Amino acid sequence: MPFQDFREFLDALRAQGELIDVDRPVALELEVAKAMRKSAAVAGPAVVFKDNGTRFPLVGGVYNSNAKALIAYGCDRENVFDEIVTRLSTRIPPTYVDDGPVHENVILGDDIDLSILPVPRYSPDDGGPYITPGFVVSHDPETGVPDIGHYRCEIIDTKTMSMMAAPSHRFAKNQAKALRMGHKTFRAALVIGVDPMIAYACPIQVPEDTNDWEVVGGLRGASVELVKCRTNEVYVPAHAEVVIEFEVDFSQTVEEGPLGEYTGYYTPASPKPVVRPTAITHRHGAYFQALLTGRPTTENHILKQLSFEASFYDMFRQQFPTVTAVAIPPSGGVYFRLVIAMRPRYSGEARSAILAAMGSNLRPKTVVVVDPDIDVHDSEQVEWAMAFRTQPARDVIIVDSLPGGVLDPTADETLPADQRTGSAIGIDATYPYGTVIKTVGDLCGPASEEHGGHVVEVADIPGWRDYDFPELDAK
Ligand SMILES: Cc1cc2nc3c(=O)[nH]c(=O)nc-3n(C[C@H](O)[C@H](O)[C@H](O)COP(=O)(O)O)c2cc1C
Repeated sequence: MPFQDFREFLDALRAQGELIDVDRPVALELEVAKAMRKSAAVAGPAVVFKDNGTRFPLVGGVYNSNAKALIAYGCDRENVFDEIVTRLSTRIPPTYVDDGPVHENVILGDDIDLSILPVPRYSPDDGGPYITPGFVVSHDPETGVPDIGHYRCEIIDTKTMSMMAAPSHRFAKNQAKALRMGHKTFRAALVIGVDPMIAYACPIQVPEDTNDWEVVGGLRGASVELVKCRTNEVYVPAHAEVVIEFEVDFSQTVEEGPLGEYTGYYTPASPKPVVRPTAITHRHGAYFQALLTGRPTTENHILKQLSFEASFYDMFRQQFPTVTAVAIPPSGGVYFRLVIAMRPRYSGEARSAILAAMGSNLRPKTVVVVDPDIDVHDSEQVEWAMAFRTQPARDVIIVDSLPGGVLDPTADETLPADQRTGSAIGIDATYPYGTVIKTVGDLCGPASEEHGGHVVEVADIPGWRDYDFPELDAK
């Protein structure tokens, strides 16, 4: 059974020793971040900061370890990936309800005051406090198809916010379309505190016309209950802890940033549209949420990794059916580095895969394709393949003038985000098509195969697992 809401998930974390309560006062200004960082460094518990200077308890770190991700999915390490891929093949439409706990408290008009919310500052040079765990629900202004995705949100003052949406992400595309259609504003909602399957569904890669709530239903194995916002036409989870309904005003900008980002670098401040809350709705005793981002590995990376890997694998296998595994590791921010294992079925297929991956919405900067015998999650094995299965002049592709990573610190940050371009490198570290691979396991005897169309691998040392080694066992 899926978690009904955020609270049930917190109960499950607490029951498994993965959540602790801190009753002493903890400051939102950097202190919450220090505590979250320290716990994450030891794959420690999520933390409820009860005394944070506001009336809302603040929970940080609920996505800070793979162990918590497994609790969220209700899976174990061995089956989680296959289970996600299976769940992605099922779509369950949402259920629309007239009322829900998220509307137990509704704050409107002049009563709106963002300073009632416990919003931390994470890194010393951040431009202000940031809501980092919130996901935006927005609708395509033409088709009405809903999208959900995480977007950072800076608190500018008690009634003003600003957000950063990469041009290739659907929230930005929806806004750009509204602007093209002549709209002066764009209405959407920021949601905090939900069943974790909704949060893990946000990064899932799907075709652009997908109703993301149907993906959520498939991932959690049950329809999600949605309720209409109070000040706009957007539907949000009825059991969410907090929702900020808002309006993007295209006519006014404000400096948004810097923020210490998932790349491990600050993104500089730049003008972005003003975002005004039109309502704050919340449950009685609502939990607010904090999420650590910054140099890998943080909650940001863990939240994305399984969702990106499973959905990318699922989509990619439709074009390249011999793909056996995909890694999109935190070292590349869970975007910039992609490793694919596949056995090419004909000459050049690994190259096609590299180019297709570069053209995907993940926009990786480095794509490495290896044979299926390489563990894509083991960087030492990947480097071994790159060292001994490539000839750089033959196997490396560099493509320039691709859409640039918006948060890439090497991109020209003086340009508007939609005008930035960058390059990407592809490395075909598979054996060339047709290579005969022989494995020779005899340590004493020389490999007798001639090189050419053949390679001769040294097998793992025969019998080492069963070797009697008492001195080592005694350690
Ligand atoms: C915690 C977190 C924060 C994120 N913040 C942003 C952000 O501020 N801006 C952005 O464009 N993408 C951000 N992303 C990435 C997008 O939410 C994600 O890539 C999503 O899949 C994009 O939406 P789309 O696939 O519907 O286009 C964030 C992801 C996570 C997990």
